[in-house]
Amino acid sequence: MNIQVDILIIGAGLAGLRAAVECVDQATVAVVSKVFPTRSHSGTAQGGITASLGNEEEDRWEWHLFDTVKGSDYLGDQDAIEIMVKDAPRAIYELEHMGVPFSRTPEGRIAQRNFGGHTRDYGKHPVKRACHAADHTGRVVLDTLYDQCLRHRVKFYSEHYLLSLVMERGRYAGAVLYDLATGELRLIQAKVILLATGGCGQIYKTTSNGFASTGDGLSLAYRSGIPLEDMEFVQFHPTGLYPMGILVSEAARGEGGLLRNRLGERFMERYAPAVKDLAARDIVSRAILTEIRQKRGIGGKAYVHLDLTHLEKEKIEEKLWEIASFVRIYLGIDPVYDPIPVKPTCHYVMGGIPTDVNGRVLLDEKGSIAQGLFAAGECACVSVHGANRLGCNSLLDLVVFGRRCGLAMKQAISKYGHSTISNDSLRIVEQKIEDFFNSKGRERIVDIRQRMQSLMMEVGSVFRNEEGLRTGIEEIRSLKERYKNIAVTDKKKTFNFELMEAMELDHQLTLSEVILFSALHRRESRGAHYREDFPQRADRYYLKHSLVSQTSKGPEIRYKPVKITRFQPEARVY
Ligand code: FUM
Repeated sequence: MNIQVDILIIGAGLAGLRAAVECVDQATVAVVSKVFPTRSHSGTAQGGITASLGNEEEDRWEWHLFDTVKGSDYLGDQDAIEIMVKDAPRAIYELEHMGVPFSRTPEGRIAQRNFGGHTRDYGKHPVKRACHAADHTGRVVLDTLYDQCLRHRVKFYSEHYLLSLVMERGRYAGAVLYDLATGELRLIQAKVILLATGGCGQIYKTTSNGFASTGDGLSLAYRSGIPLEDMEFVQFHPTGLYPMGILVSEAARGEGGLLRNRLGERFMERYAPAVKDLAARDIVSRAILTEIRQKRGIGGKAYVHLDLTHLEKEKIEEKLWEIASFVRIYLGIDPVYDPIPVKPTCHYVMGGIPTDVNGRVLLDEKGSIAQGLFAAGECACVSVHGANRLGCNSLLDLVVFGRRCGLAMKQAISKYGHSTISNDSLRIVEQKIEDFFNSKGRERIVDIRQRMQSLMMEVGSVFRNEEGLRTGIEEIRSLKERYKNIAVTDKKKTFNFELMEAMELDHQLTLSEVILFSALHRRESRGAHYREDFPQRADRYYLKHSLVSQTSKGPEIRYKPVKITRFQPEARVY
């Protein structure tokens, strides 16, 4: 069945939904989601969304700008960051008016809390900047935006998996989707397409990311000729629940929680003397793993403690109730009385599909525009997070740039008619599915995926070096060869998750190679990318964005300059 809309939005997280709300008044809009929309990964964001409202103490957008630039290890584009932080207060009040139930101060203002790397007076003291709804902020913003979409009659295609992007005469003009419930293929034609498909954290064994975060949109864009920007920068959140890696929000430290090693020491005092536990994530994650490497993990194991036991029970129950609840459920301990075992967990990819500040996808370092294609959210790289994202700047990025995409797409559709697109793309996908079903191969999807996830932890996580990256790339290439012999044993049409996992694995292997390849070529340490063999930042050579493209000979790397407006790079100390 072929469908025609003006605007096709792929992904129903905050970026996709915010864009949909913006453009549905002047266009027919379809939102496609791999999962039921309110199960999108944005719903797992816990700690908050930043804005210099100054509700709890003095704050200014200039300080938010400085912190974000410094947090990015000077790789973020300062023009884009300025747009984001200046727009933040408006974006928060807009969410409030849409119905987001933010926590409140005693005076009734939106409550704000501390988060890593957010300061006042250009780095002098931590500042309360993260607006929140207890510790389930992403959940309530997602539900509210979904309500808004329903109210404005946005059309949803839930549990539809993106199989390919369709191009017609050099323009992105549609997508082929797989309806999980029926096994039917659908071709949706559109004047413009927004990719808001999220990140790819499932490439790593230990991750806070949901099962759907397999990077399908990133990989399909790459294969269609779009370079991927800054993919070497993968964030490990310091406090994943040990051993699973589920997120324990930084809000716990924002509310006064402390990290301790097996000696009971507040070890962050040594790594970030000024702000301690509230340093940026890259620094805290490296500190935790250094403690573990130096045998100061708890009981000699690979975790440290996040200690909330000195906080009032009422504070934990009111402000951190979701964390408290899943620590009780998953570990059978009570954070009111027992310290929580934590270790870094893969959380966010700073790199992605290059875009301008209106979400238009960029084809090269000169800034040529990919016709008909937009991107927003974690799959996009504007770049406002550079080499390391500050906590709670992600939800802000999603709603600010999601809205800007919505506005830009409304303008763009007036330029375009619908192209007539052939059914070739449908036939190619049909053939691919047939090939999976007819394969006589003996490789199991799960074996390849698990090896990839362990390998990425070994060579491509918090600490990296030349040898590990080179052997990692070779092994990913041999996993790609093994992938050619996978078998899809489940042949049924409805809810064939094995078939979907086969497609996802293909994308994950592609992105693993891109991440390791980008990391190999950045011979310096910056933000979340730490090279043990090149431990210093090297602005002279690497103050630039990487762009990796797919070629017939494998990935190829080029670079483009960072946009610096107000803050020249300086030593980054917390
Ligand atoms: O720790 C957290 O609550 C995560 C927030 C974020 O990644 O922005």
